Amino acid sequence: MQGDPNFRRILLKLSGESLMGPKDFGLHQKTINRICDEIKLILKNKIQICLVIGGGNIFRGISQAAENFERTSADYMGMLATVINAIAVQNILESKGVETRVLSAIPMSPICEAYNRKKALRHLEKGRVIIFAAGTGNPLFTTDTAATLRATEMNCDIMLKGTLVDGIYDSDPKTNPKAKKYKTLKCDEALKLGLNIMDTAAVTLARDHKIPVLVFSIMENNELLKVLNGEGNFTKLVP
Ligand code: GTP
Repeated sequence: MQGDPNFRRILLKLSGESLMGPKDFGLHQKTINRICDEIKLILKNKIQICLVIGGGNIFRGISQAAENFERTSADYMGMLATVINAIAVQNILESKGVETRVLSAIPMSPICEAYNRKKALRHLEKGRVIIFAAGTGNPLFTTDTAATLRATEMNCDIMLKGTLVDGIYDSDPKTNPKAKKYKTLKCDEALKLGLNIMDTAAVTLARDHKIPVLVFSIMENNELLKVLNGEGNFTKLVP
């Protein structure tokens, strides 16, 4: 892989569900191993990497009753789920010799460092992979919004949203076999059409701070590397 010379620093957002592989909830070691191997390969190409990981594999998975919780409590549980995922991915990356730091938006000093922008930049410059945990630290914001926020704060060249689908469609490809996939899509168009790919706050942040977002399937082997090279299957959400 040559790596796009334009990408000096990226933010990779992984959906929590991607870590559960074929399971119904939780963590699937083999899948996380494979994703971490791909991350390590990118790092070899001198690209600085920030990670934000969702929490849906743990929170939505452990309780059918999740929707019955009061919204802010549910969101705090989701934030804690992202910390569990961050520690899991840190563990596997470090077992492969990749230096990693977990920075949490909610300080929890015995477990990981508290988020500090300057410290995060220093870690990146030293070649460490940063995993931003606990979302934005506030309820009512999604991990997609946390990802676009951190991508902006870290001056990332691009955000890659690694999820279970290979791009943005005009309707749900799982239920509509005729759903059409966009090659590129403007943020304003995505907002106007109400496409269910990222929440409004995340799309607006990406638009206003000029962060392009590549939406692709992290479930496909080596797709991350291909997408970074402008190959593979993805939709580019442009500011
Ligand atoms: P440099 O100063 O750039 O070399 O960064 P560093 O992260 O190696 O130095 P630091 O002394 O800040 O941290 C040393 C180790 O302690 C690293 O593994 C950090 O992740 C960890 N660490 C730092 N602050 C905290 C904290 O508040 N809580 C926890 N649990 N670990 C921390």
